[in-house]
Order: sequence, then structure tokens, then C-alpha cells
Amino acid sequence: RRPGQCVRGFSTTKKAVVEKKAPSFAFAFDIDGVLLHVAKPIPGASDALRYLHTHNIPFILLTNGGGKLETERVKDLSEKLGVPLTTDNFVQSHTPFRQLVDDGPDSLRDKTVLVTGADAEKCRAIAHAYGFRNVVTPADILRAHPKVFPFDPLLSSVHASPLTPSPSSPLKIDAMFVFNDPRDWALDIQIITDLLLSQSGHLGTYSAKNNNPSLPNCGWQQDDQPELYFSNADLLWSTGYALPRLGQGAFQAAVAGVWRRITDGHELRRRVIGKPYGETYRFAERVLSAHRHEVLRAQGFHHQPDVLRSVYMVGDNPESDIAGANDFVSEVGTEWCSVLVGTGVWRPDVRGGEGVLKGRFKPTAVVRDVREAVAWALEREG
Ligand code: G3P
Ligand code: MG
Repeated sequence: RRPGQCVRGFSTTKKAVVEKKAPSFAFAFDIDGVLLHVAKPIPGASDALRYLHTHNIPFILLTNGGGKLETERVKDLSEKLGVPLTTDNFVQSHTPFRQLVDDGPDSLRDKTVLVTGADAEKCRAIAHAYGFRNVVTPADILRAHPKVFPFDPLLSSVHASPLTPSPSSPLKIDAMFVFNDPRDWALDIQIITDLLLSQSGHLGTYSAKNNNPSLPNCGWQQDDQPELYFSNADLLWSTGYALPRLGQGAFQAAVAGVWRRITDGHELRRRVIGKPYGETYRFAERVLSAHRHEVLRAQGFHHQPDVLRSVYMVGDNPESDIAGANDFVSEVGTEWCSVLVGTGVWRPDVRGGEGVLKGRFKPTAVVRDVREAVAWALEREG
């Protein structure tokens, strides 16, 4: 089907389901702009998910959103969408960070990590739930070292964490995580930059190796500074405003821009997950396979097709959902198809419209909304 062609309804489908054959395909749904718009279900979203749930066609929700515990977010989504969801079929931007506490020489479980996001206290709780034991927020640092930031703190609500003991001094940070969209960019950029310039993550120090040509192996970020992780590269996302709004990707661009100025043009070394990055799709594919296994087992399909043949990624953002699915090379040979809807970031009439749907941004299909996306995929599966 060419981009732009639409299919309506999915009520007449599908033989494979009626005959009780285990489906060898599944879905991955983006949330903002596909299932929800400003926290309200997009028309057709509940019906589409309910249909798949009733017919035991596996799906996961794969979002670049975050900032809440998976259990909390899933409960909220189940209520809003009227479909039972569990953390087994849910991956948000920062969910893959939980792998970083797994056993092994590089485990960050007992290291000290800095976390930030919309509500750093919530991010701390999420990090603890993932297994990180020593978690520090920018507010902790500001309380312990008020002079670290020469301006008035932005919001007392963001910086209030009176119950948390001050971090041990001198403070050494081993990794930095942006869980979701920070609110106080100025404070966070200041502290992140300080640590990127520090000697091995010791707050308040300045590495002698920073751009010092007289020392061997020197340069920027060459002195065991903490790795900086971002969970979502979306520059824009779909909100209640008429035009897309700046997201965590804009914060990343701001940090990288300041770093470029400080270092005379050096590119910030950082690690980014979330859509469109392969690491997130790989993680999602494993979660989806395990979930599918359970869904099919519960239905008595003991001789399940070994591999998932196709996954339909339904998204509203060509730069994350579509490019990610198109670029991804599955570990088990699954075909990832990309289906673009017009209910979110991408619109036929703004930011280049159909003109941007080229190369890696070209979806397998363009449909009006999630209902049509599911109908299109079911028809294709025949
Ligand atoms: O902040 C969330 C936003 O960037 C995108 O969420 O569900 O469209 O991946 P989603
Ligand atoms: Mg979206």
C-alpha cells in the first residue's frame, strides 16, 4: 500500500483469528499522538486495543514518554483506554535503564548516579525501583552546595526534597541520567556541565586533562567523567497546543550546544536511548516476544510459531517511531513495518507534510489514525 492510502474499520477481519491459529504478527503502539492526545484517548484507540486484546493478538506500548513508575503509568493507561495492560507489554523511554544494574563488572547498582527529569523525586523513586541504590538529584546538590547555582532556584516544588539526606561529601557521580523532560534547564545544565568537566565525576573539581595538549591522552571527557544518558531524543511532541512543543531532545540540544561553546566546537559524548535508537527497539522486541509467548501460552497454543514474523510499529513521529522501525535490524529476523498516523506530530499540512516522508522516514503505510493502522495491518496479514 502506498503512503497516503487508507483503510477503514477492522470488524470483518480475520480468518487466522477465527480459526484460532496463533498469530505470527504483533503490534507496537506509540502513545502520545497515536493512543492519547493530551491525556485523552484518540477516537478509535480504545476500540483498536480492545479488538487486539479480545483476539489475543499481542501488542506492546512503546513510548518516549516517562517520568512515572511503569506500574503507575500502566494503571492510568488501562483506565483511560479501557483495556487491561500490564508492565509486561509496556516500555517507556527510561525502562531500558533498568538493565544497567544487572550483575556484571559494569553494573551501576552500587555506584552513585545523578538523575533528573520533570520531577526529580519521582525519577529518584523510579531509579530505586530499577535497582540503583545511590541516587542523587540536582536539588540534593543545590541544597548541599547552594553556591553551585548563582540564581534563584526556579521552582520550590521542583527543588523540594526535605526528607532526603544530603549526599555524602565530597560527592563523586558515576553516571548521569535524564529520565524525562527537565523543568529547570539552567540548574541541570550547570550541574551536568560541571560534572562533564570534573576530574572523574568529583563535584567541584576541574580535570587537568581538559583540552591540555601537553598531557598524553588528554582532551575533553577523557578523565573518567560520568557517562551522560538521555532517554528520549524527540525534539518535538504532540500536546494540547496547536503546534508541536519542544521535548527532551531540545534539552539534549541545549546541553550539547553549551558543551560545544565551552569546548570550542567539540561534540558532546553521550548515550541516547528511546525511539529511534536500536537499543530501545531491541529491548522492546525482547519484551514483546516474552509477552507474546505468555499470551499464546494462556490460549493453549503450545506449538507456537518460533519467531515473531512481523511487528507493526504504529507511530505519529517520522523521526522517532518510523525511522526507528525502518532502521531496526531484528535479532531474530522479525520484519518491523512502520505505520504513520496523522493524529499527532506529523500532519500532512505542517513541517513539510508528505515531503518529509523520504528515505528512513518513509513509512510502510500512512493512515488516518490508529484504527486504520490496525485495519491495514490485519488486512495485510490476511
Ligand atoms: O515526552 C513524550 C514524547 O516525546 C513522546 O511520547 O508516546 O509519542 O513516544 P510518544
Ligand atoms: Mg508519539
